[in-house]
This record gives sequence, structure tokens and C-alpha cells, in this order.
Amino acid sequence: MGTRLQGKVAIITGGAAGIGEAISKRFALEGAAVVVAGLPDDPVREVVDEIKASGGQAVGYLGDLSSWKLAQECVKLAVDEFGKLDILINNAGVFIETNYLTDYSEEAFDYMIRHNTKTTFLMSKAALPELQKTHGNIVTAGSEAGVLGIPQNTPYGGTKAFNIAFTKGLAAEQAAFGVRCNVVGPGPIDTAWTHKETGPMDAKMEKTNNQAVLTGRRGTPEEVANVYLFLASDEASYVTGALYMVDGGITIAKGPAGDQADSFFKKQPKEDLKLQHSMDGHTSIRE
Ligand SMILES: NC(=O)c1ccc[n+]([C@@H]2O[C@H](COP(=O)([O-])OP(=O)(O)OC[C@H]3O[C@@H](n4cnc5c(N)ncnc54)[C@H](O)[C@@H]3O)[C@@H](O)[C@H]2O)c1
Repeated sequence: MGTRLQGKVAIITGGAAGIGEAISKRFALEGAAVVVAGLPDDPVREVVDEIKASGGQAVGYLGDLSSWKLAQECVKLAVDEFGKLDILINNAGVFIETNYLTDYSEEAFDYMIRHNTKTTFLMSKAALPELQKTHGNIVTAGSEAGVLGIPQNTPYGGTKAFNIAFTKGLAAEQAAFGVRCNVVGPGPIDTAWTHKETGPMDAKMEKTNNQAVLTGRRGTPEEVANVYLFLASDEASYVTGALYMVDGGITIAKGPAGDQADSFFKKQPKEDLKLQHSMDGHTSIRE
């Protein structure tokens, strides 16, 4: 067990699958008490049990955080269970359709606005009164797509651009209350979203994505969680309003640079989190 978040209380939205599972487990291993928040179909109970089994502190919250009532309920759970709130990780999101805009469904657009941006807005709004008391911080999920855009999923890029601008505005506003706000910009990460078998990408998109990354491979959920850990910890006390890319260099690559990556980069680093739900993510519209 580490101590980088010792004594801290954190909510991780979308905390039971993909990158969120890695954040929940990394934070718990570093001493935080975590609220693992997810939709009723997400493996929240399993992740909470796994954290507790390895000696960590966790409680689950099952509910759609695009509802104001449920967002408030989730924050209240953190305070009721652990006495305060220091960190909000706005990681919840969905990736459900790839299509040219001429064929892109209005339903998918509305669904993404709700799960990728409204959750960020409502959870931040609900958490801020508590974060102001603890001089805490918020870290939100952007994406390289929020910087570069993404063809055949243009509304997705738009939702992530919202999260980036929203975070910068919030950082400027909340400095007066001692609250830091930062945003992470992952590149293609090894979750259900980036595999043709489990998400809406076809084989061509999957290949193009990996080639576009300087490191020639997807990032792992754990590699992203490590950056969330730094930003959420007191080590980042001078970092606010920042966008931290965790993208294998995709935003500066020109052309299919991944093909030329050194084999050192192509090899995934040795990891220590026991992840069970990397591929259990949200890649289609649920009722
Ligand atoms: N995977 C990638 O390549 C990638 C790249 C860039 C950015 N990101 C961002 O990282 C975050 C996580 O991505 P992932 O690949 O781990 O996804 P994932 O689908 O594996 O996990 C996201 C979780 O959030 C939950 N969620 C969605 N809406 C919710 C809501 N309203 N209330 C509660 N929970 C909700 C989902 O059900 C799911 O369990 C997303 O915000 C995504 O935009 C991912």
C-alpha cells in the first residue's frame, strides 16, 4: 500500500469498468477511501469487494449521475460514509456509435451529451460545496478527441471538448475557494471502446488509431490512472486549469508514426493492479 492519498476521500464516476476501475483501485491502494460510482449494470459491487479484499476502503454507488437528485445522493454517500470529500474524478462516459454525420443518430448524440457532459456538470456542482470545505480538487476525463476532433464520431469529440473548456473555466472560478480543477486527455486506451469486438470501432479505425500513436500501441488503464493519481494528490498543488495528455503522443504525431515506434515503446509496462473489468465498458445505448 502507498500513502500518496492517505486520509483522502474520493468519488470516481464510472469507477467500476475500464479506466475507472484502474483509478478506483490505484486510489484505494494509495490510501484513499473511494466511492465507486456507476450505472446499475456496471460491476460496482465486484470492484468494491475486490478493493476491500486487498485491504482498501470502498463503498459503491449505483445510479445514473446525469440526474441532479442522484448526483447529490452520491456526494452525500461519500460524506455520510467517510465524513468529507477531497477528490471528485469525473470519469463516467460512453462511446456508442461511429457513423458519418449524415447518418449519425440524434439518439446517440443526446445519449452522449447526457453521459459525457451532463454528468460532469452535475457531479461538479454537487461536489463543490464539500470540496470547498476540504480545499479539494476535481479531475475530469477529456480526450485527445476533445482537442483534435474525431472523424465518424464528431459529437463524441464535441463532448470531450466541453469537458476541457468546462474544467478551465471552473479552475479559474474555483481558485477563489481553494479548489483545483484539471482535465486528463487520454489517447486510445485498452478498454472495450478501442476493440472492434467490444465497441463501435471497425477494424480500419482500430488499426488507424494504433498507427497514429507515437508509441505504436494503446495505453493501459493503469497508465492513465497514474496521471489521475498525480493530479488528484497534493503533489500537484501548483497544477490547476491544466490539460494533461496521456495519449502516447497522438496529438503531435504526423502520419502513421506508430509503425516506426521502438519495440521498447510497443511493450506494455509491467503493472501491478489486478484489473478484472477493463473490457466491461459502456459501448451501446442501454435502456
Ligand atoms: N478508452 C479510451 O480510449 C478513452 C480515450 C479518451 C478518453 N477516454 C475517457 O475516459 C473515460 C472512461 O473511458 P473507458 O474506456 O474506461 O470507458 P468504460 O465504458 O470502460 O467506463 C466508463 C464507465 O462510466 C459509466 N457511466 C457512463 N455514464 C454514466 C452515468 N450517467 N452515471 C454513472 N456511470 C456512468 C459506464 O457505464 C462505464 O462503466 C471516458 O470519460 C472517456 O471519454 C477514454
